[in-house]
Amino acid sequence: MGKEFVVTPWDVSGNVDYNKLIKEFGLRELKGLPKVFQENVLFRRKIIFAHRDFERIVEAIEKKKKFAMLTGLMPTGKFHIGHMILAQQIIFYQKLGADIYVAVADLESYNTRGQSLEEGRKIAVEEYIKNYITLGLKPEKCEIYFQSDRSRDGEKSGAYYRLANLFGRHATFNEFKAVYGDITPGKMVSAFLQATDIMHPGLKEFSGRVPIVVPVGVDQDPHLRLIRDMTNRLKEPDLILPSSTYHYFIQGLKGGKMSSSDPTSFIALTDSAKEVETKIKKYAFSGGKDTVEEHRAKGGNPDIDVSFQYLRFFFEQDDKKLAQIEEDYRSGKLLTGELKKITIEKINAFLKEHQARRAKIIEKDIEKFLY
Ligand code: TRP
Repeated sequence: MGKEFVVTPWDVSGNVDYNKLIKEFGLRELKGLPKVFQENVLFRRKIIFAHRDFERIVEAIEKKKKFAMLTGLMPTGKFHIGHMILAQQIIFYQKLGADIYVAVADLESYNTRGQSLEEGRKIAVEEYIKNYITLGLKPEKCEIYFQSDRSRDGEKSGAYYRLANLFGRHATFNEFKAVYGDITPGKMVSAFLQATDIMHPGLKEFSGRVPIVVPVGVDQDPHLRLIRDMTNRLKEPDLILPSSTYHYFIQGLKGGKMSSSDPTSFIALTDSAKEVETKIKKYAFSGGKDTVEEHRAKGGNPDIDVSFQYLRFFFEQDDKKLAQIEEDYRSGKLLTGELKKITIEKINAFLKEHQARRAKIIEKDIEKFLY
């Protein structure tokens, strides 16, 4: 829509033009993937839309060779439906046989957001890990770790922190500035740690020299570019450049960003049925027309309608049903209130089951994931 937008690891705002980002960042469009990817709504509907070096992962999957997946999370705020995009990819790769690594960026939230390590740990467990388990993550071949506490195994821990300190020589201050704009020592530490998160599964103490896929929001690509450059310069240990995939941001209820710090922008996985109803009715940005007459005559716009987007991202898995809703909305047959009602029912049916299963998780279940 021609409006200005910003996408950096520290700021996402405006109307993001994803095609422009592909060009600006030098990404490649994701297409021609093997059939298994079609089973996943996020790939099938191109919500995951771009990549770097994903061929290595496709090859590993097709030839049934070992590969790993690593991603990271900021342990701040509530776990909301936006976070499900990543959660579902983690579980998808686990089903495909990948070694799974999830970095809890507690040092990053300490250094860049002023949050204590203790608070970060609590949020990681209560908000993230419990919901991952409920969504289907299994403890086998899966390590969730804290940046501040990589492993109780001394060799593993040593290997991680050694790598973190080897990158320092392989980047210049100007490169950091070019990638981040406004740079602080805290951001620099976070960037080196993120490089270590992404590259360390390839060390012999972990999965060894295997391809690693890193699914992330497209705001994280500046990190990936810097990491690739540093890894190319680092001759020893010899590591394979990461493969990465990029997904769209899910829109916040009112349009714009879904932000953990604004409860009227998200649906949390712990929201009650009543809260969901109120939030969708009151806040969900509508692509409908102002009056029923006008809507019937001209139709609504599902492309900008937040309720429709939520159905498309997660809650209507059936392509035919989704296409019917889209068609009816565009033609004016389906009104905004009716579309919202469908969305509320779908979300609440999902949350009811999710919350019942989440309530059964105990301390012991969580410990199986921590190293
Ligand atoms: N910087 C990421 C964020 O802001 C968190 C993160 C830390 C991460 N290490 C990572 C993401 C490794 C992907 C891979 O959300």
